[in-house]
Amino acid sequence: MTETRDVILDMDTGIDDAIAILFLASRPHVRIAAAGSVHGNTPADAAADNLRRVLSLVGLPDVPVAMGAVRPLVRPPHFAGEVHGDDGLGNTTGGTPAPGANTGESAPEQLVRLARSAPGRYDLLATGPLTNVGIALILEPELPRLLRSVTVMGGAADASGNMSPLAEANIWHDPEAAKLVFDAPWPVTMVGLDVTMRTYLDEDAIARLAAGTSEKAKFATAILRHYLDFYEMISGRRACPLHDPTSAAVLANPEYIVEAYAANVDVACSDDARGTTIVDRRANGRPAFLTREPATRVITRVDVERFREDLVSTLLA
Ligand code: BDR
Ligand code: CA
Repeated sequence: MTETRDVILDMDTGIDDAIAILFLASRPHVRIAAAGSVHGNTPADAAADNLRRVLSLVGLPDVPVAMGAVRPLVRPPHFAGEVHGDDGLGNTTGGTPAPGANTGESAPEQLVRLARSAPGRYDLLATGPLTNVGIALILEPELPRLLRSVTVMGGAADASGNMSPLAEANIWHDPEAAKLVFDAPWPVTMVGLDVTMRTYLDEDAIARLAAGTSEKAKFATAILRHYLDFYEMISGRRACPLHDPTSAAVLANPEYIVEAYAANVDVACSDDARGTTIVDRRANGRPAFLTREPATRVITRVDVERFREDLVSTLLA
């Protein structure tokens, strides 16, 4: 039987974050307990609006949404309107107000409060810059013991970066916070570009979605338009990688994981290498290289066919 999961979301709610929510909300064994927004694809207030829009669309308007960090720990913020649209959802919202309201709490405070209230219960899925999670670790150093697991969409071990030659965007936005997260003594699952750039929503899947009549399919098709424009410009294909949805699948459907290894991850914070994940897999069972037990599970491959089929049928339903 599949294990029940109580998940806290931490998102810079852009287009692929939104699709990750559509996927996760359909899993019968997953309860989305709370959500926090963070700067990244779009400003943190717009990301919170988008969380409320998408949670409402999937029939979860009562999930508490807390606004999170408006900027990285050290650097100024940077938004990605060219990839996700100025509203984070491919310029589809047309300035209409999002339903409901944020809680008065900040996202890091919400995370710490929930973790303390039920040690070992919550799984965290972070698909944006790691600023909130870094702040939560500073507020509550016991956080690693209090959460059940942490899944991060971010980083690149053997893959090229997407924000710089070596750096993946989420880590690049706030490398100092990411360093705190990978340094902390907890099991982190890294779903980086190694796996997400191999996990595409292809032309056939996009055509099936476009023909769909469900609310989820219509919404996904609308928001994907802008995302596909961007990816077509850089790859020549009207298809896109499933960054955040893959991290949601790794958390909710671990049976889709095909290949992973254990390593320690550090993050470069200097200007030239900013946001590069330095993945140390030398230990690999050899004590001479062990500075600490490998703490990060780096996912390198999922069963793309099965996951994509599951995602498309979820969105069509
Ligand atoms: C990550 O960066 C953001 O643009 C996406 O939402 C995803 O979380 C991919 O590098
Ligand atoms: Ca994201």
